[in-house]
Amino acid sequence: LTLYVPRDSAALAVGADAVADALHAAALAHGAALQLVRNGSRGLLWLETLVEVATPQGRVAYGPVAPDDVPALWPALVAEADGTPSAHPLRQGVTDQIPYLALQERLTFRRVGITDPLSLDDYAAHGGWAGLQAAVGMDSAAILHEVTHSGLRGRGGAAFPAGIKWKTVAHAVATPGATKYVVCNADEGDSGTFADRMLMEGDPYLLIEGMAIAALAVGATEGYVYIRSEYPHAVATLTEAVARATAAGWIGDDVCRSGRAFHLHVRMGAGSYVCGEETAMLESLEGKRGIVRAKPPLPALEGLFGQPTVINNVLTFAAVPTILAQGGAFYRNYGVGRSHGTLPFQLAGNIRRGGLVEKAFGLTLRELLYGFGGGTASGRPVKAVQVGGPLGTYVPESQWDVPLDYEAYAAIGAVVGHGGLVVHDDTADMAGLARYAMEFCALESCGKCTPCRIGSTRGVEVIDRITLNRHQPVVRDQQVTLLRDLCETMVGGSLCAMGGMTPFPVLSALNHYPADFGL
Ligand code: NAI
Ligand code: SF4
Repeated sequence: LTLYVPRDSAALAVGADAVADALHAAALAHGAALQLVRNGSRGLLWLETLVEVATPQGRVAYGPVAPDDVPALWPALVAEADGTPSAHPLRQGVTDQIPYLALQERLTFRRVGITDPLSLDDYAAHGGWAGLQAAVGMDSAAILHEVTHSGLRGRGGAAFPAGIKWKTVAHAVATPGATKYVVCNADEGDSGTFADRMLMEGDPYLLIEGMAIAALAVGATEGYVYIRSEYPHAVATLTEAVARATAAGWIGDDVCRSGRAFHLHVRMGAGSYVCGEETAMLESLEGKRGIVRAKPPLPALEGLFGQPTVINNVLTFAAVPTILAQGGAFYRNYGVGRSHGTLPFQLAGNIRRGGLVEKAFGLTLRELLYGFGGGTASGRPVKAVQVGGPLGTYVPESQWDVPLDYEAYAAIGAVVGHGGLVVHDDTADMAGLARYAMEFCALESCGKCTPCRIGSTRGVEVIDRITLNRHQPVVRDQQVTLLRDLCETMVGGSLCAMGGMTPFPVLSALNHYPADFGL
């Protein structure tokens, strides 16, 4: 009997370890031989803990399973393994045929939830290392051409073309005796996002492979993954994966028998949102306080320890092995306009079926909210969706049919960002959420520039004055004018996205939901 129980944090949080223990106990009690694989999560988070059983028809899913369900579930699992479908109420059918999964276009996440994350054999058996093996046989220019041609853009949120960034680093020269670096930003601070974490916990070798390809492309010999401290399982999994990949010769002194070195290190952050900003992250990696550096110089030219550095998000590196294995043209074929490839969207907040949905760019928010998400968990109407993290705008229903691509979203003043969606129902107080955006900025500001450091605190006060004076039109309108003026200053005068984008949620709440401000 072969069963799968995820080891992903989202599953652990709802008791996956206890479910695994209960399954072992049941096997012992029945004298059954059990092979229990701790896989990554399939990303159907409302069904966690999702137990899968290998059957002649493929894997069949049961969920959400609690430890107490196991005694009654056991006979169903045993019968299922022999090809007899059960009538158990938690049965979800053949996993790959569950519409939520079947309707996705999984490129980056195609192995997540399927393999044992730390098994090198499993990784290789499911197409792993094909991209790196292809890259080893190519020169730097050819790798850069494929990545550029694929149209891949930075998945951390800013969507800068990866090929152009890599080319800048490849052409830059390190100080004699020093090296170039490849740094992965795994600080994933956006509210409602978890794709980086799921990938690192569910398919860590994919990230390692993508970073090794980047190193070959730009001529770097050292790499770092900077992971937020709130992700202890991702830190542990990736640390172990780096050790195993190094021992097996995929990275290390002789990358994939290429004669070139790439040493990878895992570092943990210390709980600061702004350390996800690339230059603050570099400061933190260098052992200093995480304060934003002025750009220029760009990190591509003067990054970690002053040397040319590729910095990309987890999902950007994780897209690269597919591009090298299947060709830039293959990846480019997905998506719309200038947004090529797929984006792993993350459905969170007040949503019935929260989880990970990887789709090509171009689908709409409405399809994600209702087709995949099934509406709100509370059953009430959706009022607002914050797309792109705490610095993203609140998108009202009138814009839910706009295709999700970088340019179409920019045209409505919104951001796709890292693909996080936080859903609110009609009980949400948008003035309260706008206040929260300013408060968040005040708490997380690194303090380097005035519009952000002082502006965010003043912003909280001004929003309070608006809501307190909602029945005093003269004072209220004065304060609204002041808030708009303050937001303009923050957008134009802040050094980084923290202060520069905080006005996005504030102004979108004000513009689309004026009644919540008493207007
Ligand atoms: P940016 O637009 O300043 O830079 C984007 C990237 O391109 C950077 O790595 C930059 O160094 C590089 N770049 C720019 N011009 C270049 C050139 N000529 N040559 C080579 N490289 C060049 O944006 P920034 O400030 O790095 O990121 C802001 C974004 O971060 C926001 O859009 C937001 O969505 C996102 N964000 C994501 C979070 C997450 O948890 N994933 C959290 C907070 C913000
Ligand atoms: Fe620091 Fe805020 Fe200025 Fe960014 S905008 S540099 S977080 S003070």
